[in-house]
Amino acid sequence: MTKLKTIHTCQSCGYISPKWLGRCPDCLSWNTLLEEKVSEKDRTASKSINMPYSKPQPINKIERIKEDRVLTAIGELDRVLGGGVVMGSAVLVGGDPGIGKSTLLLQALNSVAEGGRQVLYVSGEESPIQIKLRADRLGVASENLCVLAENSLERIIEVIENLKPKTVVIDSIQTISTSELSSTAGTIAQLREVSAQLIGYAKTHNMPVFLIGHVTKDGLIAGPKVLEHMVDTVLHFEGDRGYPYRILRAIKNRFGSVNEIGVFEMRDGGLEEINEPSGFFIADRPSDAAGSVVVASIEGSRPILIEVESLVTPTLFGMPSRTIVGVDHKKVSLLIAVMVRKGGLKIGAHDIFLKIGGGLRVSEPAVDLGVVASVASNFLNKPVKSGTVVFGEVGLAGEIRGVHHTELRVKESAKMGFKRCIIPKDNLERLRKSGFFNRMKDENIEFIGVNNIEDFLGSGLHS
Ligand code: TYD
Ligand code: MG
Repeated sequence: MTKLKTIHTCQSCGYISPKWLGRCPDCLSWNTLLEEKVSEKDRTASKSINMPYSKPQPINKIERIKEDRVLTAIGELDRVLGGGVVMGSAVLVGGDPGIGKSTLLLQALNSVAEGGRQVLYVSGEESPIQIKLRADRLGVASENLCVLAENSLERIIEVIENLKPKTVVIDSIQTISTSELSSTAGTIAQLREVSAQLIGYAKTHNMPVFLIGHVTKDGLIAGPKVLEHMVDTVLHFEGDRGYPYRILRAIKNRFGSVNEIGVFEMRDGGLEEINEPSGFFIADRPSDAAGSVVVASIEGSRPILIEVESLVTPTLFGMPSRTIVGVDHKKVSLLIAVMVRKGGLKIGAHDIFLKIGGGLRVSEPAVDLGVVASVASNFLNKPVKSGTVVFGEVGLAGEIRGVHHTELRVKESAKMGFKRCIIPKDNLERLRKSGFFNRMKDENIEFIGVNNIEDFLGSGLHS
């Protein structure tokens, strides 16, 4: 008879302790140790992933093969993946419940299946009938798309061996368990083992596998970082429930850039790609309102025009409050301090409310000037002239620093009909030297270079 042993595993970092502890000594998180029963045989369960190349080879002798990719025909997903799904790769897709992970992968798989490839969608959460109901709404009906409702890893591998699909989706990895371990599905031990086996299988059979992962309330993919280390690509599907748009972001990608984002809109018939996101986020913008400013931002390799809005009012009760949505709170506090000291704006005792239009989240330095422009504009009650786009990084001394991808930002602004760009002087000089202005002659764009906050307050706002 196999002897059962009790261990306690931290569900956030994987630390193992023989007795229960309130706080994990490794990652210092509270209340994350969970009791698990393991048998002696569990210790040997995690066989190493069967890699096909296990001999040392001189690096110059390794044959270069171009990685084999399959397009899912969902352009935004393919772009985030770096140009399609790499054969044999493991992709982890995380996101809040109900954000649309299952929908996205069902749509993606359907288009792969319609291209004549056999694909398998394994659901540990929903019955085939539930999946069918969703598929009907999405117009997903390819005969090459097979659905399997199953929780046992052994059974799933068996089905894969028989069906020999070209792509597999596991929805979700937290619901699958192996009988080799006695702990329940979703625990660290199970997650690690099930993922290792599936990823190993994918690698040896050159078949891509998508693992859907739940996220914890902190927004991390449930389970230890271990899971993120094991896969080749980690994607996050995010968005605000109150808005229809969804953003797919690569957090890690062994086969492409991590800066790319894909933008979708959730409609009645499923997710629609938004190929021109610029217009989308500034669509309902008020014109000539003090406090509303358009920033040409870059997400990945793509420019997106976003709107920064703010409201500055005198504080009624003692401490001024700062309510910030969509930009880092600390960054805005810093910019407010710079505006007080270097721009001479007396906003220290004002409540400031600031948000990015459309519920978008941005973290790029070029948005700094947008924040400054928006707060100053609302405080002074002077709108930024309509048809104006701003961008630039603001330093602690109030200086406005150059940012990258200036040409892309300006071209996108021109494309969206903006006629005036307020940009760092440094960027302006470089554009002039590169002959960019000659190339943009027909667009008739007015450029204003600013060196510091005072410069901006002098020339950027409409009086
Ligand atoms: P789902 O893919 O089930 O989310 P997840 O797998 O991330 O938990 O998406 C569910 C949400 O999407 C649900 O709240 C309803 C909405 N939805 C639509 O608005 N339109 C649709 O066509 C579909 C299929 C879902
Ligand atoms: Mg789901």
